[in-house]
Amino acid sequence: MRVKIGDLVFGSEEKKAINELMDNSTISEGARCKEFEAKFADFIGTKHCVVAANGTVTLMLLMYALRYHSAYKLKGGEKVITSPLTYIATSNAIVTTGYEPVYVDINLDDFSISAEQVKEYMENVDGPENHRAMMPVHLMGYPCDMDELNKTASKFNMAVIEDSAEAHGSLYKGKRTGAMGLAGSFSFYIAHNIQAGEFGAITTNDDELANICRKMKGNGRVCYCTVPDIENGKCPHQNLGFHPRYLHDVIGFNFKSMEYQPAIALLQLKVVDQILSKRRENVEYLNDALAPLNGTLKLPVRTEGISFLGYPMVLTDNSFSRNEISKQLTKAGIENRPIFNCIPTQQPAYSFLKKKYEGKLPNAELIGNNGFYVGCHQYLKHEELDHVAGTLKSILLK
Ligand SMILES: Cc1ncc(COP(=O)(O)O)c(C=O)c1O
Repeated sequence: MRVKIGDLVFGSEEKKAINELMDNSTISEGARCKEFEAKFADFIGTKHCVVAANGTVTLMLLMYALRYHSAYKLKGGEKVITSPLTYIATSNAIVTTGYEPVYVDINLDDFSISAEQVKEYMENVDGPENHRAMMPVHLMGYPCDMDELNKTASKFNMAVIEDSAEAHGSLYKGKRTGAMGLAGSFSFYIAHNIQAGEFGAITTNDDELANICRKMKGNGRVCYCTVPDIENGKCPHQNLGFHPRYLHDVIGFNFKSMEYQPAIALLQLKVVDQILSKRRENVEYLNDALAPLNGTLKLPVRTEGISFLGYPMVLTDNSFSRNEISKQLTKAGIENRPIFNCIPTQQPAYSFLKKKYEGKLPNAELIGNNGFYVGCHQYLKHEELDHVAGTLKSILLK
């Protein structure tokens, strides 16, 4: 038996959607992307959604856009507070767009950045004015304490960019993640709750930010009108004396997406509530089945309103080794992954920060050493979940 972290089942609807694109020779960004933007903005509860090639470049677009936004006008070199425990894209997006990541420790219960420690850090740091943005991460689907983070951010005029790559539809006090900061960023990579291979989206209520991101993903083009709109005279920039496709007023990137990505994602968005509740049901099923391991494994603490990326566990009995458990799970056909690691102290690419942070992020290091997850996706059946629980019990119940 093979129990995957995530699965992707292509049925007749997906094949029809892709064939339609090929029949119409439409593959670069167009109507499907626009349709997804409207529907995803509606689902998250924001005024705008801007799609892009993946969930790394959406973070980069947002960070870079802060240089052009009239309320922030960053120049590069500013500090950005973020979580040390996350997929590396979060930090990479900060560094590659020219800023300095600053790490504050996480909560052990939900893996998210500690709002209390962020407040304490900002109130005591020398030069708080150099800290111009925050990038909290809703890891594994668990929402950060956005009210408290927003309070600190507004006190110090910081932009809040929510990395919601792993939390499609998670709720915090009735609001979706990605709708509470200045902007949210989503990834629809394989194994996420809505998946399209590579695909990403920005959500925001800020008109100016949405416009900058739209321009910037097309190499800073003055206008993001489609070719047919320009040709039909609908483009507001058509009388500038130069074709608007080749006129650029900000320096940008090519981070555009393709039509087949939203064509697949739209089909999942249609049934997103079922996907999220099936995943929650699977988490609860595993919680019951693994209850005898309490004390050896810390199981997910709450399920309500959470959009689970996977089933996260933390080894709490150090007579066992996480790596040995991982090997035995793999041998039994059960895919598993660590819950990432503590970026500045455990990630080779960031070894230049190791000395600065060693011993200062104990919770992130603890999860980095002892956290792991298995799948809880919507295609899993009880017999597969039983196999996961039975295997873990056979390893850990002596
Ligand atoms: C927390 C987090 N941020 C950013 C990303 C980057 O997204 P992508 O892989 O679509 O570039 C991911 C991807 O899984 C992620 O988990």
